[in-house]
Amino acid sequence: MAAKVPRVVVVGSINVDLVVRLARLPRPGETLAADELHTIPGGKGANQAVAAARLGAAVQMIGRVGDDAFGPRLRAGLASEGVNTDNVMVTADCSSGVALIGVEASGENAIILAAGANGRLTPDDVLQRQEVFRTADVLLLQLETPPETVAAAVALARKQGVPIVLDPAPAPTGPLPVAAADVDILTPNQTEAEALSGVVVDDLAQARIAAEALHCLGARKVVLKLGALGALLYDDQGRCEHVATAEVKVVDTTAAGDAFTAALGVAVAEGKPLPEAVRFACAAGTLAVTRFGAQPAMPTRAEVEQFSTQLR
Ligand code: RIB
Repeated sequence: MAAKVPRVVVVGSINVDLVVRLARLPRPGETLAADELHTIPGGKGANQAVAAARLGAAVQMIGRVGDDAFGPRLRAGLASEGVNTDNVMVTADCSSGVALIGVEASGENAIILAAGANGRLTPDDVLQRQEVFRTADVLLLQLETPPETVAAAVALARKQGVPIVLDPAPAPTGPLPVAAADVDILTPNQTEAEALSGVVVDDLAQARIAAEALHCLGARKVVLKLGALGALLYDDQGRCEHVATAEVKVVDTTAAGDAFTAALGVAVAEGKPLPEAVRFACAAGTLAVTRFGAQPAMPTRAEVEQFSTQLR
């Protein structure tokens, strides 16, 4: 019997990434020269939507683009990846979301975000789309849309019994817009875990302390993304497991976290046990850092399955 196609709903941001590559990132007040400007589809929500689609999910995106030159291209780009864009709305007199990104030779990046139309995604935009949630297997959320919209999506998903994966990215400057206990899986990276728990995460021991702290704050399952160290999962029974990843040549870390979270969501929607889902997610995130750009770096199902075998 053919495996069931997981149905993923993404509520989130859609950006155009304006990217330059430099030997190193500039210091405040400094001007550095770069060769070329790359215009690449991005945005944490849209990246997760594309990643989930490439992993074989049926994906519905709820978001907004502006009525500028980027809007139609971003929408068409999502559609060309097989993402359902019926609920990607166009906001009049507004720019699309833009991320100004510098990527240095080490693969690390720095990002400045102009929210544009993402900032106009309202709770009503979500609440009017109950039908989309009715058949969903998982909801993927991030924090590049207004907090009240994230809260509305969580409330609707809970009402419909849809599991929620919240990527608390970019790192919140205050508390989460929703109660941590209302989310099924929280997927912070090291910076986000520190912002939420107050625990600096530089190694596995600290990651464990941060995950426990997040659990004490109400988070049910925490999957902490640790870059080259893989990931640490902490489940609702207080079980903690480290999943290592393979060493790769890092080209660009942009959107690796999005690849990870999307893959985790897809695997959970397919009913995989959490440790197996985290391994699948680690494989997706690790593959993404070996490629330049956000959406172009998202790996396919075949690539992730093949790479996962190295992580056993
Ligand atoms: O997570 C990576 C994304 O963050 C980029 O694509 C950029 O658009 C910012 O939203």
